[in-house]
Amino acid sequence: TDPALIRNFCIIAHIDHGKSTLADRMLQITGVVDDRSMRAQYLDRMDIERERGITIKSQAVRLPYDGHVLNMIDTPGHVDFTYEVSRSLQACEGAILLVDAAQGIEAQTLANLYLAMNADLHIIPVLNKIDLPAAQPEKFAEELAGLIGCDPSDVLRVSGKTGEGVRELLDHVVREVPAPVGRADAAARALIFDSVYDTYRGVVTYVRVVDGHLGKRERILMMSTAATHETLEIGVISPEPRPAELGLGVGEVGYLITGVKDVRQSRVGDTVTSAVKSAGEMLAGYEHPKPMVFSGLYPIDGDEYPELREALDKLQLNDAALVYEPETSAALGFGFRVGFLGLLHMEIVRERLEREFGLSLISTAPNVIYRVIMEDGSELTVTNPSEFPTGGKIAQVFEPVTKSTILAPSEFIGAIMEICQGRRGNLLGMDYLSEDRVEIRYTLPLGEIIFDFFDQLKSRTRGYASLDYEPAGEQEADLVKVDILLQGEPVDAFSAIVHREKAYAYGTEMAKKLRELIPRQQFEVPIQAAIGARVIARENIRAIRKDVLAKCYGGDISRKRKLLEKQKEGKKRMKMVGRVEVPQEAFVAALSTD
Ligand code: GTP
Repeated sequence: TDPALIRNFCIIAHIDHGKSTLADRMLQITGVVDDRSMRAQYLDRMDIERERGITIKSQAVRLPYDGHVLNMIDTPGHVDFTYEVSRSLQACEGAILLVDAAQGIEAQTLANLYLAMNADLHIIPVLNKIDLPAAQPEKFAEELAGLIGCDPSDVLRVSGKTGEGVRELLDHVVREVPAPVGRADAAARALIFDSVYDTYRGVVTYVRVVDGHLGKRERILMMSTAATHETLEIGVISPEPRPAELGLGVGEVGYLITGVKDVRQSRVGDTVTSAVKSAGEMLAGYEHPKPMVFSGLYPIDGDEYPELREALDKLQLNDAALVYEPETSAALGFGFRVGFLGLLHMEIVRERLEREFGLSLISTAPNVIYRVIMEDGSELTVTNPSEFPTGGKIAQVFEPVTKSTILAPSEFIGAIMEICQGRRGNLLGMDYLSEDRVEIRYTLPLGEIIFDFFDQLKSRTRGYASLDYEPAGEQEADLVKVDILLQGEPVDAFSAIVHREKAYAYGTEMAKKLRELIPRQQFEVPIQAAIGARVIARENIRAIRKDVLAKCYGGDISRKRKLLEKQKEGKKRMKMVGRVEVPQEAFVAALSTD
């Protein structure tokens, strides 16, 4: 295709503002999907995406329109997946900034807009859902125009649901988004913006060709790893994969298949070139996503450990952001310490493990990465609280911090500030987007955000506040490890790293919870919370005499045996912590957040 006829664009928006629905209409209007095969959220292919109504993976699709080729890239809207957005942006020249006409600008609207501006994209502001009775297009057109510095009349208005205005939007894309520019006769350079594992075809790599040409049966070179492969198939998605006999030229977006089996061999952000005529310089890639949140994952049934390992291996083939290593817990047995991009990513991975692989899992409370400097100058990275050093030899502890942006109606300013102050937030600034909507910026420790922050924010603002955060380095903090001990034995799964001021609250709450959950034993069991050797809270489980034979009055022998057998079975699902028997359910219940 002549690059002059190509338009590469993406749709960026806050979650639920209607990207996928708008993409559906575009598929229909351009005739790529006929009305009979149309289904809602056509491009969300994973079950879990469709059920939750969210987009996790980006999707690229080629739309023929009015003599042009439009490549549309649908992107996820959730904060955990920002890295997916930024990689997609690199493959485009334009971005549709979609805003719900009944909601207005939200935190991810801003975050995505800044990413698009950094990538130098032409931005098309669009209000969606104008069919809604609650839509306020005048008000929000003004807000949006104020934000990007255009005239309110330049803000397009559409309904992804009814299709109103969508044709005009496509015409606008053709007119306003710049055509791609690249050197057709130069050595090939293509940017990998996504990489997906498919059971039948192996890894499918999505690329945007910048210079030159990539063809079938060509030896290609992955520039960051220096690995070479042969392209077995190359093509475009429209909306199903369609091989392109002529290959892909300047400005084109499509896929290639080389037979590799692991997405890490075809890394997002890498540059593909020809192995025969190689480009000298890589395209500016982007950073590899870094796990930010860690949690221990254990099978409830210890025998399922090999299955859990296999399931994680499989998920990782398709999710380069997922990292894990084996871990042993005295309380929970064999499992893994798993790193995630954020809480949603964590939830999704866990749900897929349980649903797609039929596993029952316990996970420990999520934590962030801490950097600990010891007095002797040595340094260690802690991703598991039970590995936090105890004793007086710690010189400094650093925790990751975020720059967080909260958007909400101004009546909630007080409530929001109260929550943020309570979580060691530092106010950076505040701006009014309109007379009744405000943007509040804070630095907040990531460890405070992953602990129930979003739920609190939502409940204190009746669901009106939205939150976005980005990593902003680290800060020193007065953090301590609180251990929970049963009869003097620490239970590693319950150790937590908390700020010194919150240690007492955590310890008391956990001790209380466990007292309710752990059944009485034949001896008294003290539950203690401690910082190092110093006990900060204590509860007691009183002793009982649990003699099952007492009821039998020494009579029938076979009845006695049966009872003993039953007791043995019950014990199987018990874990021993020192001499204390703790039922599996107690761990599950104590670790579940409520
Ligand atoms: P993520 O993929 O999770 O980021 O969401 P999204 O932005 O793709 O939103 P999606 O298209 O799933 O739409 C969110 C909700 O808004 C769905 O319930 C849609 O039916 C509804 N919706 C989308 N567009 C319109 C519209 O134009 N009008 C009305 N009334 N509802 C819409």
